[in-house]
Amino acid sequence: MKESLVRLLEQAVESLKAKGVLPADAEPSIQIERTRDKEHGDLATNLALVSSKLAKKNPRQLAAEIIENLPESSLVFKVDIAGPGFINFFLNPNWLAEQVDAALADPRLAVPVVAEPQTIVVDYSSPNLAKEMHVGHLRSTIIGDAVSRTLDFLGHKVIRHNHVGDWGTQFGMLLAHMEEVRKEGGEISMQLSDLESFYREAKGRFDASEAFADRSRQLVVELQGGDAYCNQLWREFLDISLNHCQELYDRLNVALTREDVVGESAYNDDLSKVVEDLKAAGMLTEDQGAQCVFLDEFKGQDDEPLPLIVQKKDGGYLYATTDLAAVRHRQKVLEADRILYFVDHRQSLHFKQMFAVARKAGFAKEETRLEHMAFGTVMGEDGKPFKTRSGGVAKLADLLDEAEARAYALVREKNTDMPEQELRNIGRVVGIASVKYADLSKNRTSDYVFSFDNMLSFEGNTAPYLLYAYTRVASIFRKAEIGKEELSGDVLFGEEVEKDLAGKLAQFGEIVNTVAVKGCPHFLCGYLYELAGVFSSFYQSCPILNCEDDATKQSRLKLALLTAKTLRQGLGLLGIETLERM
Ligand code: ARG
Repeated sequence: MKESLVRLLEQAVESLKAKGVLPADAEPSIQIERTRDKEHGDLATNLALVSSKLAKKNPRQLAAEIIENLPESSLVFKVDIAGPGFINFFLNPNWLAEQVDAALADPRLAVPVVAEPQTIVVDYSSPNLAKEMHVGHLRSTIIGDAVSRTLDFLGHKVIRHNHVGDWGTQFGMLLAHMEEVRKEGGEISMQLSDLESFYREAKGRFDASEAFADRSRQLVVELQGGDAYCNQLWREFLDISLNHCQELYDRLNVALTREDVVGESAYNDDLSKVVEDLKAAGMLTEDQGAQCVFLDEFKGQDDEPLPLIVQKKDGGYLYATTDLAAVRHRQKVLEADRILYFVDHRQSLHFKQMFAVARKAGFAKEETRLEHMAFGTVMGEDGKPFKTRSGGVAKLADLLDEAEARAYALVREKNTDMPEQELRNIGRVVGIASVKYADLSKNRTSDYVFSFDNMLSFEGNTAPYLLYAYTRVASIFRKAEIGKEELSGDVLFGEEVEKDLAGKLAQFGEIVNTVAVKGCPHFLCGYLYELAGVFSSFYQSCPILNCEDDATKQSRLKLALLTAKTLRQGLGLLGIETLERM
C-alpha cells in the first residue's frame, strides 16, 4: 500500500509541475512512514516539508496544494495536514477489506510478480570441501537460501551457485592420503565418512613426512594439469564430500542440489584467460614476481598501495583469480543483472577489490549490481566465536542433532498422549526451524549469540512462537464447522483490532520486496512476529467460533485464514516448514 500511495503522490507532483507550482525538473524523494499514533492516520509523508524550498511556499500551504492535486483513489478516505506540514493518510476500511479478499483468492496472496524480472546469480553456502560443514557455514547457507526463495517468488530468474572450494592445494594432501590408505588395504569410503579426522590425518602425515609432502605437491600439479588418475581420486573424494553437504541441505530444507554446484574447479580453464585479459587492459603490475592489480582507491597501512594478486610467482592462481573468472562467466554467459554473494564480512576487502577490478576490466557491466551480502559471526554464550563444549569447531550436523533432540524433549513434555512418530516429526521441524529462525531473525550484518535456550523458547521472536501461532489458527478451522473454501460475505471491522490485523496483512508484499532488495530476511521475520502479535490481540478480544452473529464470524474466520496463509507463506520464503499441530 505504500507503493500505491507513492504513485498517487507522484501524480500530484506531476500536476503541480504542470501548474508551475514546482519547477519542471524537480524530483523530490517521496518518503512514506507508518504513523505511531492512530490519531495521525495510518501513513504519513514529509513531502511538503522537503519540497517547500523548491516551491518557494510554506510547507503547510504546499501540503494543501498537494492534497488538492491527489488523484481520486479508493485507498484513502481522509487526508490531513499536521504540525509543520506533514500529510497524514487515513486508509479506507473498504479498501483494506478488499485487500483481504483479494489475497485470500490468490495463491500468491496478491503479491504481484515484478514487472521487470532480472537474472540474479546467488552465490551461497560455498563451503570448502576438504572438511566437514561447520557452524561457520550456517549463515551463508540459510540466509542465501531465504533470499533466493524470495527472489524466485517475486518472479526473478534465480541462478543458485554453490561456489564450493574444491581446487585448493589441500587436495594434494588429501589425495596423497587416499593413496596411502588404499596401499594399506583400507576402505576409502569408510574412512571418508568422517571428513574431519581424514583431513586431520592427512595434515598429520603432511607435517611429519617430507616424502608425503612432496607427493602431495606433485599430486596438486598433476590434478590441475588434468592427469586422469588424479582426477579419478579427486572425484571420489568430492563425491563423498558433496553427499555430506547434500544431506545437510536436505535436513535444513535448503533448496540447493548437486546441479547448483559450480565450484572453483569449474573456472580452471578460464584463469589464464583472466590474467591475459587484465594484461591486455594494461592493468597488471609485476611485484616480487607476482602478477598484481593496483587500484588507487585501495591503500593499506601507511598509505602504501594494496594489490589484488592474481598470479603467484610460481605461476599458481589464487582465490581472487577464480572469483574474477566467476564474475566474467556470470556476466558473459549467464547474463546476470545482479550477482549476490552471501559471504562472511571478513572477506569484505576481497570483494571490494575484486568488484572494482572486475568492473575496470569490463568483466562486469556498469549497470550490473555486484553485492557482497556480508554477515557477522555466530558467537557462543561466552561472547567468543561459537565452539563446542570441548573447544573444537562445532559440526553443523551435531548442532542440528542437538536442536532436534532438545525440541523433541520439549514437545514431549507438552503432549504426553501424542504418538511417538508424530512427536519425532514435530521435534525435527521445531528443532531445525529454531536454528534457522534464530539466525534469520537477526540483522545479517551483526554477530549474534547462539543459544539453544533462547531459540527454543515459546516466547518472543522465535520459531516456536510463530509455529505455535500457526497451529492455533489451524485448530480453529478443525473446530469450525465450515470449510476454508466456504467463507463468504464482507470483511467487517467492528473492532479496531480487526482493522489493525487487516492492515498488517496488507503489508506482506511490501516486506517481501524489501527482503529481495536488501537481502535481509530479518525484515520478514520481524514482520511475521508482529503479525502473530496482532493476531494474538485479535484472538483475545474477538471471539471467532463463539461469535453469535454469522456475518462477523465469517469475517473473523477470513482474517484468521489469511493470517495462517501469510504465516505459512512467509515461513516458506524463509525455508521453514509449518505444522498443523504441536
Ligand atoms: N569457499 C569460501 C570460504 O569458505 C567461500 C566462497 C564464497 N564465494 C565466493 N565466490 N568467493 O571461505
